[in-house]
Amino acid sequence: MTIIRPYRPADRDDVYDVCVRTADSGADARGQYTTDDFMPDVFAGPYLALEPELAFVAEDDGRVVGYVLGTADTARWAAEHRARWLPTVADRYPLVDQASTPQAELTELLHHPERDVHIELAAYPAHLHIDLLPSHQGQGLGRALIRTFLAALREARVPAVHLGMTPTNTAARAFYDRLGFRELPLQVPGVTYLGAPTDLAV
Ligand SMILES: CC(C)(COP(=O)(O)OP(=O)(O)OC[C@H]1O[C@@H](n2cnc3c(N)ncnc32)[C@H](O)[C@@H]1OP(=O)(O)O)[C@@H](O)C(=O)NCCC(=O)NCCS
Repeated sequence: MTIIRPYRPADRDDVYDVCVRTADSGADARGQYTTDDFMPDVFAGPYLALEPELAFVAEDDGRVVGYVLGTADTARWAAEHRARWLPTVADRYPLVDQASTPQAELTELLHHPERDVHIELAAYPAHLHIDLLPSHQGQGLGRALIRTFLAALREARVPAVHLGMTPTNTAARAFYDRLGFRELPLQVPGVTYLGAPTDLAV
């Protein structure tokens, strides 16, 4: 049976594994970057390190098969990322002159966490990432993880949450639409922004 529970530090490697196996618009990204830790170091590690109390996992038979993680305050997160996360990974992923590959573009983002802060999203201060292994998709676990995450945000008196997603990930878009997330009017090439109030009934 799969349960939803708070993240524990011992889950870190499983979370990294789920992240890379779903990091290609929902498909497996292993082997696509210089190390399979790259995508997790960009999209999971900073949240686990900075706001572990806002990370929740789906566990089946002793193994983490999915997670939701994020921040209650994107602007604060960006500042803490720069101060506390970036110094731990910057040497591993140096900036290159020409951001001409997917890894180079994401390395730019890693080195400039402030680019995740948009004035247009000020009413949606939290943001999240959610991923489940293919074996555990379509069973209601995504809905349960989002419900748990929204409850934690409500407890912290956070009014609304946003997420940025690849427009080509149509399966994820159908999921968010079904839960009641709405597209936000922020134009950034290659990213669709969705948002929801934390009192959304999911
Ligand atoms: C997207 C994801 C988190 C959804 O979680 P999930 O557990 O598969 O979704 P659930 O089973 O909880 O579905 C909740 C609702 O969304 C609907 N839904 C989910 N995926 C859907 C799809 N591809 N098409 C249409 N509806 C979908 C379900 O039918 C369900 O509605 P219902 O309760 O009325 O039947 C999960 O599939 C996943 O991790 N995918 C790969 C990684 C990824 O793309 N992450 C998001 C990056 S932005």
